[in-house]
Amino acid sequence: MVIETKRLILRPFLETDAGDVYEYLREPAVNCFADMKLHSPDEAKKEMKRRSGEGEFYFAIALKDSGKVIGEIGAYPEAGEPHADADAVRDTFSPLWMLNENYQGRGYAFEAARAFFSYLFSQKGARRIYAYTEDYNLSSRHLCEKLGMRREGVFLEFVSFVNNPDGTPRYENTVQYAILKKE
Ligand SMILES: CC(C)(COP(=O)(O)OP(=O)(O)OC[C@H]1O[C@@H](n2cnc3c(N)ncnc32)[C@H](O)[C@@H]1OP(=O)(O)O)[C@@H](O)C(=O)NCCC(=O)NCCS
Repeated sequence: MVIETKRLILRPFLETDAGDVYEYLREPAVNCFADMKLHSPDEAKKEMKRRSGEGEFYFAIALKDSGKVIGEIGAYPEAGEPHADADAVRDTFSPLWMLNENYQGRGYAFEAARAFFSYLFSQKGARRIYAYTEDYNLSSRHLCEKLGMRREGVFLEFVSFVNNPDGTPRYENTVQYAILKKE
């Protein structure tokens, strides 16, 4: 699947994207992506090989004019209700989005996310899209709001991605946003 916007192409990852992805994943910008860290160019190549089979729900964000991969966006279908049985309808999605910091502040994330949401709602049976973002992640919260997502609540000390220097878990406050297809 390929999604085209004015300035971007959202497309499956290729093995040749390893260098561009290593640029932003050698130091993930936020704690919630700490476990996506790529430790070497070789690891980046292996990760691209793994990702290259995924063409439906996870995309590289590439600039139309140069082809450079500047980030990624994806979301997998989930059942809306956490205790749903195995054959429950999977019409709920929670996106991950991330841009190379050199390409932030230019509207690319909004352009990519708007097209991705439209794809999920119109072609992938999405009924509800929700996002978790840490309370201090103002750029991600701003993006959610620009996309028309409602702030549904805040979970205090909800999750820990990294430890404090003394080895205890560092808990984060998480804000939840969502939008329904009918909205
Ligand atoms: C979250 C993230 C994807 C947002 O990216 P971003 O570049 O800040 O978001 P946008 O694409 O909406 O661009 C923001 C600004 O670009 C500016 N901009 C510049 N040129 C523009 C253009 N041609 N069109 C639109 N906006 C433009 C606007 O000022 C816009 O701000 P505004 O909405 O106040 O007007 C990015 O900060 C990121 O990758 N963060 C690290 C990973 C992360 O935190 N992920 C989420 C974890 S929960």
